[in-house]
Amino acid sequence: MLFTNLRIEDAETPCDIRVEDGVFTAIEETLTPREGEEVVDWEGRLALPPIIESHVHLDSALTAGDPRWNESGTLFEGIEVWSERKRTLTVEDVKERVHRAVRQQARFGIQYVRTHVDVTDPDLTALTAMLELREELKDAITLQIVAFPQEGIQSFPDGEALMRRAAGMGVDVIGAIPHFEFTREYSVDSLNFACALAQEFDLLVDVHCDEIDDEASRGLETLATRALEMGLRDRVTASHTTATHSYNNAYFTKLLRLLTMSGINFVSNPLVNTHLQGRADTFPKRRGVTRVEELTAAGINVSFGQDDIVDPWNPLGTGNLRDVVFNGLHVTQMMGKEQIDRSYRFITHNAARTLHLDPESYGFGVGRPARFIVLDAPTWYEALSFNAPVLASYRDGRQLVRTQPSTPEILF
Ligand code: FE2
Repeated sequence: MLFTNLRIEDAETPCDIRVEDGVFTAIEETLTPREGEEVVDWEGRLALPPIIESHVHLDSALTAGDPRWNESGTLFEGIEVWSERKRTLTVEDVKERVHRAVRQQARFGIQYVRTHVDVTDPDLTALTAMLELREELKDAITLQIVAFPQEGIQSFPDGEALMRRAAGMGVDVIGAIPHFEFTREYSVDSLNFACALAQEFDLLVDVHCDEIDDEASRGLETLATRALEMGLRDRVTASHTTATHSYNNAYFTKLLRLLTMSGINFVSNPLVNTHLQGRADTFPKRRGVTRVEELTAAGINVSFGQDDIVDPWNPLGTGNLRDVVFNGLHVTQMMGKEQIDRSYRFITHNAARTLHLDPESYGFGVGRPARFIVLDAPTWYEALSFNAPVLASYRDGRQLVRTQPSTPEILF
């Protein structure tokens, strides 16, 4: 099959792509169709590698308002509401909602998802469902599952045992939530435990780290030190890290050296954190988003995630990572033209590093699996500005999504 006139990422000019048996077999300025070969002319539209969701909670997706709404809009009321909803979970309930949520994500070109799954549940119901879904959905979406202790490891009954059970059941990643633990000592203990468990089971680490406006929340320095000293390095991700927004600059400057040495990844969830953070402030209200520009300038890998799709933490999360990038560039003031032009990388190449994908399995290249999307715009700048729809999403040569472009009539 031959796809012609596609502009790959930030290329100046379009090119042609041949796909055979689910693999890219040629990418050149001009390819001549073979006899009988199916040809699709994309007329200069933008092609990107599949979008990667590097941080979301699919187990709570599509539960907003059930059993009640989060009226204060805080992270902590969200945790209380979810704790009530969690008691009524069934495997069927989780599966039905996740099937709807991943179809929503697919519409927006997503083919890879790292989902955190709450394991502070003695029955591990959501985890059981998600492990089955990882297998059921694998031809359409790659699910990476994090054992996420929403109510703490040291501060939740049998927290360590539940994490260990989850590791044994086949999760991909070990999580933690140090800022939610009862004490600073528990916070450090939970990180030591999570990193040791990951090493024992040969798993990745992704910690909800310092998701609070408390400038004294210092889980990040412990996590980065463990990553460095245990040799886990880029197998470790620090998610949220919103407290860095409130760190004094002298401390952050010192911390940046360790962060660089450690090689860890960061995930920022700017859309949800501008809504959840700063809630204890009067005025001025802090934005509560991690220091994306400073981390990026230091050469540290940062990706963007949605975090929540219509759940107790974000009743308006759409699943569309374009919205997250759009909001994230505004709130981090990364609005230089080159910063905008490169921003698709937060939800593609940078996210691939966060997920620790095999570099030879992702992106455009002869011999790689033919996974890509086509947007209804010639460049990322225009796609982002005008919210261009994803017209097609291909996975191993198979089309997963087909969208008809709509043309509004302006009647004046
Ligand atoms: Fe999260």
